[in-house]
Order: sequence, then structure tokens, then C-alpha cells
Amino acid sequence: MDTTKRYPFLDLALANAPYMDELKAAACEVIERGRYLHSTQTELLEQEIAATCEARHCVSVSNGLDALRLILRAYKELGILNDGDEVIVPANTYVASVLAISDNGLVPVLCDPREDTMNLDSNLLESLITPRTRAIMPVHLYGTPCWDETLMRVAREHDLRIIEDNAQAIGALSDVAGMNGTCVTGGLGDAAGISFYPTKNLGALGDGGAVVTNDDTLAATVRALANYGSDRRYHNIYQGYNCRLDEIQAAMLRVKLRHLDQENATRAAVARAYADHIDNPRVKAPVIFDGMKQTWHQFVVRVEDRDAFRAYLEANGVGTDIHYATPAHRQPCYQGLEHVALPMTERLADEVVSLPIAHPITPGDAIAIAGIINRF
Ligand SMILES: Cc1ncc(COP(=O)(O)O)c(C=O)c1O
Repeated sequence: MDTTKRYPFLDLALANAPYMDELKAAACEVIERGRYLHSTQTELLEQEIAATCEARHCVSVSNGLDALRLILRAYKELGILNDGDEVIVPANTYVASVLAISDNGLVPVLCDPREDTMNLDSNLLESLITPRTRAIMPVHLYGTPCWDETLMRVAREHDLRIIEDNAQAIGALSDVAGMNGTCVTGGLGDAAGISFYPTKNLGALGDGGAVVTNDDTLAATVRALANYGSDRRYHNIYQGYNCRLDEIQAAMLRVKLRHLDQENATRAAVARAYADHIDNPRVKAPVIFDGMKQTWHQFVVRVEDRDAFRAYLEANGVGTDIHYATPAHRQPCYQGLEHVALPMTERLADEVVSLPIAHPITPGDAIAIAGIINRF
């Protein structure tokens, strides 16, 4: 009999199991009430997400990509961005950040990351600025805040909008206060997009997303664009989209939002256990930054001999994943960008491995997995 304990990379049914009774009750309430779109649950979720991100407005939308697309499209409708304008975005991100830019007729300018944070390197920003640069989209990748004085200074000096991709970091805290005086990711820049994709720390049971901002005009424009471009019923001021979040997903998210702090705290304890016990010179653990609160959406180690490492872990019952093996500039849809020099992005893409971190993984499991890793 195989007695090896298994640690699946992520099993969403197990991850949601602690909330099952609450989720079922909330879903039943929506079904019985008979209002399935734009009603109480979405309204309350918007208030609660705005409060979480310390922002004045939240507009719930269909998914995280649409959240970012809508922000950029709204800036175009408001005359702040125009076709062909450049937006600086980290090359080391999920492709959705880049898609939101190119989909709007804007030009993504890819920035290499820092090795320690794996996030956009703000010291490279000045070298990427041209007369067409209008915005920066920092991504709080894996739940590590991407925010520093240099980023803020460059944005201020060049009059650039900052649009946070907060898809992976709801509940994270930067150690540097933002433009708006807050240090909660999602409230730091001019606007932020959030994803509620099921694997996220605050994951729906389907697709979902949100835009948060302190800008009244931007919020109203995003809200109209996400609702066919209408500012009131049957009155279309923009050629908009249907990007609604439905009431059932809003209800699911409201249940899980009540547990988000605990979810993030458990992930932080697991991350600490991994970092304290991984002791293999072939495996580089991610940095735990003092002063910041990272949400540990992923716990990403780096290994040169990645294929052998993953096969070894799989054989020892540990599931892994890669976020992300092929960066945007190497994707077939971005032909022409493949020659941009992004050495750190390429190195990370070749070496990163994500370890199990979501519920039901405990700090004790992380210590056991670290033991397996140390024997590699
Ligand atoms: C960094 C980042 N940006 C954007 C997105 C897009 O979010 P969604 O999958 O909800 O469209 C995701 C998640 O998939 C993401 O990880």
C-alpha cells in the first residue's frame, strides 16, 4: 500500500470546504429572492470591497481582465488616454495585464522585474519613458505589493496614471503609503483591477472582478461602460459592453470576504514555514519582506533544474504548477515583441515553480514538503 501523503497543488472543492454551509445558504437566498443581476448582493459587495481597498468606489464586473480593460477604456473616453499611447507594464505577469492594454489600441511597454520582488523594477522606468508614455500598470504579482517611492516619483514627474493590477493581492499592504495616503493595494494608485477567478485568495465559484478607484468620474464611466455604455436605462452614452457580475457570485464573494483576513493569515504562516525550513542550495525561496503584508497568492521558488524538481516532487506526492512558463513577449499573439531584451523575465520564466499553499495546506504540511525538497 502506498502510504505517501499527497499534497495536491490546489483542489478548489477542498479549498472552499470550510465555507460550504455559508455558501449554500447564500446561494439559496439569491435563488429564492429572484433578483439575479444588479441587486442587493452586488451593491453590498461593492461597498465591502471599496472598504477593504480603502477606496471611495468599487464597480463589480465580469472578471479581472475586464476590470483592467474597462479602466483603460474609461480613460480613453475621458480623453486621458488616446490610441497609440504607451503603458508601462511588467513583462513578468500573467498575459491578461498586457491584453488589457493592447485590446484598447494602446501600446504595452514591457519592463523587466527586480530579482527579489519578481515585480516591476521601478529603477528601469525612466529608461522606458517616451513622449507617448501615459500610464504605468504595476502588478502585485503573487501577492507581493509592487509600490515604492521611485514609482510614485516617476509617475508624478511625468504625469502618468497608475493603474494597479491587484488581481492577486487583495488584502496586501505596502510599506510605502500611496498617492492617496493609503498603503492597501488597490487603493494606492489612480485605479485598480481585481480578479475573483476561483483560484484567487478571494475566489468566486466562477468568474468575477472589480474596479476600485477614488476618482468619481472614472468610476461613473467604468460603471456605464460595463452596462452597455448606459448612464440610465435605455440611454447609451458610450458603445459599451455587458460586463456584469451576477448576484450569486457576489453572494459567494461576500461569504468568502468575511474570511479573507484569516485566509491570508494562514497562507502567510504556511509561507513562513516553507521559508524557515527549505534549506537546499538548489532551491531559492521567495523573500518575505519586513513591513509589507504579502497575500501569498502563490509561493514561488526558483530552481534551475525545474523539470527534474517537479518530477521528483510529483513522485513524492507534491503537486506543483508554473506561473508563468511563457511570458507575454514570447506568446504567438505578441509576435514582434520577442526581441525586446528582458533577461530577468526570461530567467524567472525558466526557473519558477509554485508550491501548494491554499487550504487545506497547513504550516505542518509546509514543513513536511520542505523536508522532501531538502532531499532533492
Ligand atoms: C496578474 C493578473 N492579472 C489579471 C488577471 C485576469 O483576471 P481574470 O482571470 O479574472 O480575468 C489575472 C488572473 O487570472 C492575473 O493573475
